Amino acid sequence: MIAPSILSADFANLAAAADSVAGADWLHVDVMDNHFVPNLTIGLPVVESLYRATDLPLDCHLMIENPDRWAPGYAEAGAANVTIHVEAATDPVQTARAIRSAGALAGLSIKPGTPVDPYLEILREFDTLLVMSVEPGFGGQKFMPEVLDKVRTAREHVNAGHLRLFIEIDGGIAADTIEQAADAGVDVFVAGSAVYAADDPGRAVELLRAQAREGMARCERALGRG
Ligand code: DX5
Ligand code: ZN
Repeated sequence: MIAPSILSADFANLAAAADSVAGADWLHVDVMDNHFVPNLTIGLPVVESLYRATDLPLDCHLMIENPDRWAPGYAEAGAANVTIHVEAATDPVQTARAIRSAGALAGLSIKPGTPVDPYLEILREFDTLLVMSVEPGFGGQKFMPEVLDKVRTAREHVNAGHLRLFIEIDGGIAADTIEQAADAGVDVFVAGSAVYAADDPGRAVELLRAQAREGMARCERALGRG
Protein backbone atom coordinates (compact mmCIF):
# COMPACT_ATOMS: atom_id res chain seq x y z
CA MET A 1 0.00 0.00 0.00
CA ILE A 2 1.11 3.55 -0.70
CA ALA A 3 0.40 6.28 1.85
CA PRO A 4 1.30 9.78 0.63
CA SER A 5 2.29 12.09 3.48
CA ILE A 6 0.57 15.47 3.36
CA LEU A 7 3.51 16.93 5.31
CA SER A 8 4.97 17.75 1.91
CA ALA A 9 1.70 19.09 0.47
CA ASP A 10 0.32 22.63 0.51
CA PHE A 11 -1.27 23.01 3.96
CA ALA A 12 -3.58 25.71 2.61
CA ASN A 13 -5.05 23.22 0.12
CA LEU A 14 -5.26 19.90 1.91
CA ALA A 15 -8.49 18.78 0.26
CA ALA A 16 -6.87 19.27 -3.15
CA ALA A 17 -3.77 17.44 -1.91
CA ALA A 18 -5.96 14.47 -0.99
CA ASP A 19 -7.78 14.61 -4.34
CA SER A 20 -4.50 14.59 -6.23
CA VAL A 21 -3.64 11.14 -4.80
CA ALA A 22 -7.10 9.59 -5.00
CA GLY A 23 -5.58 6.29 -6.19
CA ALA A 24 -3.50 5.91 -3.02
CA ASP A 25 -4.37 3.45 -0.26
CA TRP A 26 -4.04 5.60 2.86
CA LEU A 27 -3.42 9.32 3.38
CA HIS A 28 -0.62 9.78 5.93
CA VAL A 29 -1.18 12.66 8.35
CA ASP A 30 1.80 13.77 10.45
CA VAL A 31 0.70 15.27 13.75
CA MET A 32 3.62 17.06 15.48
CA ASP A 33 3.49 18.99 18.74
CA ASN A 34 6.85 20.81 18.81
CA HIS A 35 7.79 18.81 21.94
CA PHE A 36 8.25 15.20 20.91
CA VAL A 37 9.74 16.53 17.66
CA PRO A 38 11.08 20.02 16.87
CA ASN A 39 8.29 20.85 14.44
CA LEU A 40 4.63 21.82 14.68
CA THR A 41 1.99 20.76 12.17
CA ILE A 42 -1.70 20.04 12.60
CA GLY A 43 -3.99 18.51 15.17
CA LEU A 44 -7.45 17.17 15.75
CA PRO A 45 -9.56 19.98 14.16
CA VAL A 46 -7.71 19.63 10.87
CA VAL A 47 -8.00 15.84 10.95
CA GLU A 48 -11.75 16.17 11.54
CA SER A 49 -12.06 18.48 8.51
CA LEU A 50 -9.85 16.28 6.36
CA TYR A 51 -11.97 13.26 7.23
CA ARG A 52 -14.99 15.06 5.76
CA ALA A 53 -13.01 16.19 2.71
CA THR A 54 -11.69 12.85 1.43
CA ASP A 55 -12.65 9.22 1.04
CA LEU A 56 -9.07 8.10 1.61
CA PRO A 57 -8.49 6.31 4.91
CA LEU A 58 -6.52 8.60 7.22
CA ASP A 59 -3.29 7.21 8.66
CA CYS A 60 -2.51 9.48 11.61
CA HIS A 61 1.09 9.41 12.79
CA LEU A 62 1.21 11.08 16.19
CA MET A 63 4.63 12.56 16.92
CA ILE A 64 3.48 14.04 20.19
CA GLU A 65 4.09 13.74 23.90
CA ASN A 66 1.46 12.04 26.00
CA PRO A 67 -0.14 10.10 23.12
CA ASP A 68 -2.02 8.06 25.72
CA ARG A 69 -4.12 11.16 26.38
CA TRP A 70 -4.72 12.24 22.77
CA ALA A 71 -4.66 9.18 20.51
CA PRO A 72 -8.22 7.89 21.07
CA GLY A 73 -9.58 11.27 19.95
CA TYR A 74 -8.06 10.75 16.52
CA ALA A 75 -9.81 7.40 16.24
CA GLU A 76 -13.07 9.07 17.25
CA ALA A 77 -12.43 11.72 14.57
CA GLY A 78 -12.54 8.97 11.96
CA ALA A 79 -8.88 8.05 11.42
CA ALA A 80 -8.48 4.56 9.98
CA ASN A 81 -5.14 3.98 11.72
CA VAL A 82 -3.72 5.86 14.69
CA THR A 83 -0.01 5.40 15.37
CA ILE A 84 1.71 6.40 18.60
CA HIS A 85 5.43 6.47 19.35
CA VAL A 86 6.64 3.92 21.85
CA GLU A 87 9.25 6.45 23.04
CA ALA A 88 6.45 8.84 24.07
CA ALA A 89 3.78 6.48 25.36
CA THR A 90 3.36 5.67 29.05
CA ASP A 91 1.03 2.71 28.58
CA PRO A 92 1.08 1.71 24.89
CA VAL A 93 -1.01 -1.41 25.36
CA GLN A 94 -3.79 0.43 27.15
CA THR A 95 -3.67 3.15 24.49
CA ALA A 96 -3.82 0.58 21.67
CA ARG A 97 -6.93 -0.89 23.27
CA ALA A 98 -8.51 2.55 23.55
CA ILE A 99 -7.73 3.32 19.90
CA ARG A 100 -9.21 0.02 18.78
CA SER A 101 -12.33 0.38 20.87
CA ALA A 102 -12.84 3.80 19.26
CA GLY A 103 -12.92 2.00 15.90
CA ALA A 104 -9.48 2.49 14.39
CA LEU A 105 -6.47 0.31 13.79
CA ALA A 106 -3.71 0.88 16.34
CA GLY A 107 -0.13 1.53 15.29
CA LEU A 108 3.15 1.56 17.16
CA SER A 109 6.06 3.57 15.79
CA ILE A 110 9.76 3.26 16.57
CA LYS A 111 12.40 5.91 15.86
CA PRO A 112 15.55 4.86 13.95
CA GLY A 113 17.52 4.32 17.16
CA THR A 114 14.81 2.32 18.94
CA PRO A 115 15.13 -1.47 18.70
CA VAL A 116 12.11 -3.59 17.82
CA ASP A 117 12.90 -6.72 19.86
CA PRO A 118 11.76 -5.39 23.27
CA TYR A 119 8.34 -4.62 21.76
CA LEU A 120 7.61 -7.85 19.88
CA GLU A 121 5.39 -9.04 22.71
CA ILE A 122 3.23 -5.90 22.99
CA LEU A 123 2.96 -5.69 19.19
CA ARG A 124 0.32 -8.40 19.52
CA GLU A 125 -1.96 -5.56 20.66
CA PHE A 126 -1.30 -3.52 17.51
CA ASP A 127 -2.34 -3.61 13.86
CA THR A 128 0.57 -1.69 12.39
CA LEU A 129 4.26 -1.27 13.14
CA LEU A 130 5.64 2.01 11.75
CA VAL A 131 9.40 1.81 11.34
CA MET A 132 10.88 5.30 11.00
CA SER A 133 13.62 5.45 8.38
CA VAL A 134 14.55 9.07 9.22
CA GLU A 135 14.52 10.96 12.52
CA PRO A 136 10.90 12.07 12.89
CA GLY A 137 10.15 15.75 12.43
CA PHE A 138 10.71 16.73 8.83
CA GLY A 139 10.11 15.58 5.29
CA GLY A 140 12.79 15.35 2.64
CA GLN A 141 15.47 13.60 4.72
CA LYS A 142 17.79 10.81 3.62
CA PHE A 143 16.63 7.21 3.95
CA MET A 144 18.44 5.15 6.64
CA PRO A 145 18.81 1.62 5.18
CA GLU A 146 20.01 0.19 8.52
CA VAL A 147 16.44 0.25 9.87
CA LEU A 148 15.53 -2.48 7.38
CA ASP A 149 16.96 -5.06 9.79
CA LYS A 150 14.03 -4.21 12.10
CA VAL A 151 11.63 -4.65 9.18
CA ARG A 152 13.14 -8.10 8.49
CA THR A 153 12.77 -9.08 12.15
CA ALA A 154 9.13 -8.03 12.22
CA ARG A 155 8.48 -9.74 8.88
CA GLU A 156 9.87 -13.02 10.24
CA HIS A 157 7.53 -12.83 13.22
CA VAL A 158 4.56 -12.09 10.97
CA ASN A 159 5.43 -14.86 8.53
CA ALA A 160 5.86 -17.30 11.41
CA GLY A 161 2.37 -16.41 12.64
CA HIS A 162 3.56 -14.81 15.90
CA LEU A 163 2.29 -11.39 14.92
CA ARG A 164 -0.43 -10.14 12.64
CA LEU A 165 0.26 -6.59 11.54
CA PHE A 166 1.04 -4.25 8.67
CA ILE A 167 4.69 -3.25 8.54
CA GLU A 168 4.90 0.39 7.52
CA ILE A 169 7.96 2.47 6.69
CA ASP A 170 8.23 6.25 6.86
CA GLY A 171 11.01 8.56 5.76
CA GLY A 172 13.04 8.94 2.58
CA ILE A 173 10.91 6.53 0.56
CA ALA A 174 11.33 7.31 -3.13
CA ALA A 175 12.15 5.67 -6.46
CA ASP A 176 15.68 4.82 -5.32
CA THR A 177 14.75 3.31 -1.92
CA ILE A 178 11.31 1.72 -2.17
CA GLU A 179 12.45 -1.56 -3.74
CA GLN A 180 14.89 -2.39 -0.93
CA ALA A 181 12.18 -1.62 1.62
CA ALA A 182 9.72 -3.87 -0.22
CA ASP A 183 12.34 -6.57 -0.45
CA ALA A 184 12.80 -6.40 3.35
CA GLY A 185 9.09 -7.04 3.87
CA VAL A 186 7.33 -3.67 4.15
CA ASP A 187 3.55 -3.61 3.49
CA VAL A 188 2.80 0.12 3.68
CA PHE A 189 5.08 2.78 2.20
CA VAL A 190 4.77 6.40 3.36
CA ALA A 191 6.12 8.92 0.87
CA GLY A 192 5.95 12.68 1.30
CA SER A 193 8.36 14.60 -0.89
CA ALA A 194 8.55 11.82 -3.49
CA VAL A 195 4.82 12.26 -4.11
CA TYR A 196 4.11 15.94 -3.52
CA ALA A 197 7.27 17.33 -5.12
CA ALA A 198 6.36 15.45 -8.31
CA ASP A 199 4.61 17.27 -11.15
CA ASP A 200 1.82 14.68 -11.00
CA PRO A 201 1.38 13.28 -7.47
CA GLY A 202 -1.16 10.70 -8.64
CA ARG A 203 1.28 9.35 -11.20
CA ALA A 204 4.07 9.33 -8.59
CA VAL A 205 1.90 7.08 -6.41
CA GLU A 206 1.41 4.63 -9.29
CA LEU A 207 5.12 4.55 -10.11
CA LEU A 208 6.02 3.89 -6.47
CA ARG A 209 3.42 1.14 -6.28
CA ALA A 210 4.85 -0.55 -9.38
CA GLN A 211 8.35 -0.41 -7.90
CA ALA A 212 7.17 -1.75 -4.55
CA ARG A 213 5.55 -4.68 -6.38
CA GLU A 214 8.85 -5.36 -8.10
CA GLY A 215 10.70 -5.40 -4.76
CA MET A 216 8.04 -7.64 -3.22
CA ALA A 217 8.24 -10.08 -6.10
CA ARG A 218 11.97 -10.31 -5.52
CA CYS A 219 11.35 -10.98 -1.83
CA GLU A 220 8.85 -13.73 -2.68
CA ARG A 221 11.26 -15.30 -5.16
CA ALA A 222 13.99 -15.31 -2.50
CA LEU A 223 11.59 -17.13 -0.19
CA GLY A 224 10.89 -19.64 -2.93
CA ARG A 225 7.26 -18.63 -3.25
CA GLY A 226 7.35 -16.68 -6.49
C1 DX5 B 1 8.66 12.68 9.14
C2 DX5 B 1 7.28 12.23 8.80
C3 DX5 B 1 7.13 11.65 7.45
C4 DX5 B 1 7.48 12.60 6.33
C5 DX5 B 1 8.16 11.77 5.29
O1 DX5 B 1 8.78 12.80 10.51
O2 DX5 B 1 6.82 11.23 9.73
O3 DX5 B 1 5.83 11.11 7.26
O4 DX5 B 1 6.39 13.22 5.73
O5 DX5 B 1 8.61 12.61 4.30
P1 DX5 B 1 9.57 12.08 3.15
O6 DX5 B 1 8.85 11.02 2.42
O7 DX5 B 1 9.82 13.31 2.34
O8 DX5 B 1 10.82 11.57 3.82
ZN1 ZN C 1 4.94 10.17 9.27
